[in-house]
Amino acid sequence: MLTKLLKISCTSQKCTFAKPFQAMPGPRGPFGLGNLYNYMPGIGAYSWLELHKAGRDKYEKYGSIVRETMVPGQDIVWLYNPKDIATLLNEREYPQRRSHLALAQYRKQRPHLYRTTGLLPTNGEDWWRLRSELQKELSAPRSVRSFVPAVDEVTLEFMEYLKQQPETETGIDMLPKLTRLNLELTCLLTFGTRLHSFSPREQLPHSRSTRLMEAAETTNSCILPTDQGLQLWRYMETPSFRKLRRAQLYMESVALEFVEENMKANDSSGSLISAYIKNPQLDRFDVVGTAADLLLAGIDTTSYASAFLLYHVAKHPDVQRRIYEESLKLLPNPEKALCADSLRTDITYTRAVLKESLRLNPISIGVGRILNQDTVLGGYFVPKGTTVVTQNMVACRLPQHFPEPLRFLPERWLQQRSALNPYLVLPFGHGMRACIARRLAEQNMHVLLLRLLRNYELIWRGQTEAELDVLTLLINKPNAPVLIELRRRFE
Ligand code: HEM
Repeated sequence: MLTKLLKISCTSQKCTFAKPFQAMPGPRGPFGLGNLYNYMPGIGAYSWLELHKAGRDKYEKYGSIVRETMVPGQDIVWLYNPKDIATLLNEREYPQRRSHLALAQYRKQRPHLYRTTGLLPTNGEDWWRLRSELQKELSAPRSVRSFVPAVDEVTLEFMEYLKQQPETETGIDMLPKLTRLNLELTCLLTFGTRLHSFSPREQLPHSRSTRLMEAAETTNSCILPTDQGLQLWRYMETPSFRKLRRAQLYMESVALEFVEENMKANDSSGSLISAYIKNPQLDRFDVVGTAADLLLAGIDTTSYASAFLLYHVAKHPDVQRRIYEESLKLLPNPEKALCADSLRTDITYTRAVLKESLRLNPISIGVGRILNQDTVLGGYFVPKGTTVVTQNMVACRLPQHFPEPLRFLPERWLQQRSALNPYLVLPFGHGMRACIARRLAEQNMHVLLLRLLRNYELIWRGQTEAELDVLTLLINKPNAPVLIELRRRFE
């Protein structure tokens, strides 16, 4: 109630009951010059590659809301309390994000190809014009379900590819394999194109598949270093900007080639791009920008999330047994196609497993917004224009939010769901600006899990001395090889 009163007085420019922004606890750096030095290798206590650890440290030092001055005039407010997270994410206007700034600059330098900076970095009406047109095909349940046969076919091929791997007790590093799977799926669903990335030719270092995988990871790993700090790339070509530009040049050339093919074919291949080409509200610039965005956003996100999923499953034979039982009902004959409708109703446990994996290992530490109005968060006045980032990964590992928070317990999503706060586990973000491909990504991972467990028993062969942790490259990558032994089932 109090928060509501404060918010109301805030929108009428008074905010008399809120504590001032300056009083919010958090690091400001020596003489208020900013905490950026603290992220410098060899000097500071924090690392861009371990933002989750920095997040935990700030929570322990300052509490559930933290104001960190990066450089004078550039603050980030970090939120750990689900009440504040709900206030932030339930904005009424178009939600704004401050990310992919260098990617936006790269696209602005190429007006012959891009009219806007694309869905990822664009804000305001330009963003909504695109988003409202694109989400019909990407988010609507029926449209997403129509992809099941194609996804299942590629996943079956992936099972064959795994069968060809030499059987070894030291395990297979699953992440590069999963990246190939998600590259193949992204290209098929976006462009209706098969890359055949499991073939020996496409596994060579200079093949199109390998180069695309590398270009996606390079771009993603350049986003945080270029978004934060002094942003020297605005004035000269820094090494990070150069890497991003080269990687994007390659991804863009492939995206353009596939868009051209779709335009020439003028067919109804059922791909997303063929539907966007036919949409009179979208022009060629929009289609090219969208193609580049989907190629960038589709590959590593689902690969890293699937890698953590398989890690947790491999470590829990009891969980495997229950997924296997579910897979037997859906796939009595593992050679036959999966029925799209059964994915809607018959995979309760498999869904809970994915949800629990994303609780412990979301692929981003949280969700970022630029406040589009003065707001009261944690009892403090926070001015319009401030960058606010939720710390869901840290919050999901706190005992006050989840009993036995570090244990992998899918059952918690079956038993006491209503007792769990809906603003804690937000791996796909929230609201109008949430991941446009959430249903598609979840569906792909459900199919993978069911097919894999139907065919194999998974045994964790990776590091045992510590839990698999994350490297925060904008999206959270496993910090060590995801080594899993696959033992074939013959039932
Ligand atoms: C496990 C897989 C994935 C996860 C966990 C994930 C997560 C996210 C998150 C957290 C956001 C930001 C949401 C927000 O600000 O509220 C986002 C945005 C986005 N995602 Fe995903 N994503 C995944 C897969 C994909 C895939 C497969 C695609 C495309 C093929 C995709 C395309 C996008 C796009 C275009 C946006 C920007 C949406 C906008 O700003 O309107 N994502 N995703």
